[in-house]
Amino acid sequence: MGKIVLITGASSGIGKEFAEIYAKQQATVVLASRNEDKLVAFATQLHARYGAKVFVIPVDLSRADGPQLLFDEANRRGLTIDVLINNAGVGTYGFLHERPIAEELAMLQLNVHSLSHLMMLFTPGMVRRKSGQILNIGSTTSFYPCPLSANYSASKAFVLYLTEAAANELRGTGVTVTALCPGGTGTEFFRSAKMDRQKVADAKALMDPRKVAELGVKALNKRKVVFVPGLQNWLLTQAPRFLPRHWVTRTTRSVIEQKR
Ligand SMILES: NC(=O)c1ccc[n+]([C@@H]2O[C@H](COP(=O)([O-])OP(=O)(O)OC[C@H]3O[C@@H](n4cnc5c(N)ncnc54)[C@H](OP(=O)(O)O)[C@@H]3O)[C@@H](O)[C@H]2O)c1
Repeated sequence: MGKIVLITGASSGIGKEFAEIYAKQQATVVLASRNEDKLVAFATQLHARYGAKVFVIPVDLSRADGPQLLFDEANRRGLTIDVLINNAGVGTYGFLHERPIAEELAMLQLNVHSLSHLMMLFTPGMVRRKSGQILNIGSTTSFYPCPLSANYSASKAFVLYLTEAAANELRGTGVTVTALCPGGTGTEFFRSAKMDRQKVADAKALMDPRKVAELGVKALNKRKVVFVPGLQNWLLTQAPRFLPRHWVTRTTRSVIEQKR
């Protein structure tokens, strides 16, 4: 069957591009997200275009039982996952004290708990087989706090820390973990998070999701632990190391605030 790649959040944006890249390489691709109709239509396209084997597993990863359902369903279909692309994630926007708590918690369940849970479910098999790759999608905001997206930026800092620590633990096992930390990318992300009017969502400043996915796969194959696509984004992640933290937080807020 060749390499089997599981991509969460594969119905849109960067996840869709990962699927396209791997299908083109004749890998078997497993697409997971909530929207089954979108996934099935995309799977049909991928198969027609590249002749690749494509499986669809609909799952809501903002539910606590989502990761286990996904893992069990992959096993039930005999799919031994070689590459896990932990990509599904959403943003939220607004003052923490005004945000609907249920929405924030669902976001944390998806961006933090499910991402870690999926790693914990799939890594033991990879270690036993002495082979496996995991790509966790962080963000440039993994490197600095972001007012008005407080939980989101904290969730992405979690992804970075988790990846760096797990990569160290997994040295010598044949399994690698990489954090891909993109900056603003032209996907549905800003619309879904209701922040498309925000300065950072200016289309000119956004990276092409295909480029982000290509660079992510490259970083994964080079066994990089952390990779930030784009020089401007990389500088953005390094600057906070040399500046007072309160200054960084204030600057981030002025960038993220909505245009009035
Ligand atoms: N775009 C950016 O500027 C940017 C920057 C830095 C990092 N990122 C990160 O990149 C990753 C991909 O985002 P994107 O930009 O490609 O956004 P996107 O176009 O909105 O795609 C998000 C994907 O996540 C899936 N998803 C959302 N909620 C889900 C849930 N509860 N369960 C399962 N799947 C769910 C969506 O599919 P369904 O609706 O079908 O469930 C969709 O396929 C995210 O982790 C995001 O935080 C994005």
